[in-house]
Amino acid sequence: MASPRLRLAARSFAVACRVPNSSSRPKLATSASRRRPNPWDASLSALQVSYVDLLMIHGAMYQEAKGNLQSSLHASTRAKTWKALVAARASGKARSIGVCNFSPRHLAKLSPPPAVLQLEYTPFLQRPATLRYCREKGIAVQAYGSGGGGWQLWKKDASLDLMHAAPLQAAAAAHGVSAHQVSLRWALELGACVIPKAAKAEHQVQNRDLFGFALTDAETAAIAALDAQKSVYKFGDPDLIA
Ligand SMILES: NC(=O)c1ccc[n+]([C@@H]2O[C@H](COP(=O)([O-])OP(=O)(O)OC[C@H]3O[C@@H](n4cnc5c(N)ncnc54)[C@H](OP(=O)(O)O)[C@@H]3O)[C@@H](O)[C@H]2O)c1
Repeated sequence: MASPRLRLAARSFAVACRVPNSSSRPKLATSASRRRPNPWDASLSALQVSYVDLLMIHGAMYQEAKGNLQSSLHASTRAKTWKALVAARASGKARSIGVCNFSPRHLAKLSPPPAVLQLEYTPFLQRPATLRYCREKGIAVQAYGSGGGGWQLWKKDASLDLMHAAPLQAAAAAHGVSAHQVSLRWALELGACVIPKAAKAEHQVQNRDLFGFALTDAETAAIAALDAQKSVYKFGDPDLIA
């Protein structure tokens, strides 16, 4: 039985959960799989909740075929996993369903369309075509990495140090905020929602404080010029996956 604390958490916060694009392969959506819980049932059980607010496929790639990006298994597995997520939503285990790290071409094949696309979206990787597609189709864009997270993984590569990029530093100084707040505000102003991760209380407080300032046109243009189609996480371009 769920502890009162977890029951409270499930109602006070949005709980999101990601599953791999392989979740349909071991026939997880069929009765034959009952012996082994599917990834979202395992997560619901671990979290002690009866549903999650958002259930997402983590990526367009079927990991077991990662050596051949043109393998038809990527697309066929995506289609089956998406069908299984649609069923999970219908059964009340997920309020909304979405995907991460898909290109517009992958998104176009999903029926019904996802509620959310979660993707790396930073001043270094601006993906205007993907944002445009999502806006047209009513898919919410959830930006990760705009809090500079990927940099923690690759600290030796100074070219990935987003928070020290001059336009972010200049806007931060002008508004009396941090470069993190500027980066998050930039993503919000371009229509994405942000999901910064912060363990430190002072970071959490800062990251909630994004509405007391607005970037000027000149600051937005300077940040736009940082676009280098560069993944700070060094993930490949999802569009290369069939
Ligand atoms: N779908 C995917 O493939 C994918 C990939 C990556 C991430 N994500 C998700 O995206 C969410 C965010 O993760 P992220 O990797 O993008 O991290 P992030 O929010 O870009 O950055 C997190 C890092 O930035 C620091 N930080 C946060 N706010 C700060 C502030 N105001 N000033 C200074 N430092 C600050 C944090 O430090 P402290 O922790 O010390 O406070 C932490 O080290 C997570 O829920 C994650 O699961 C999804």
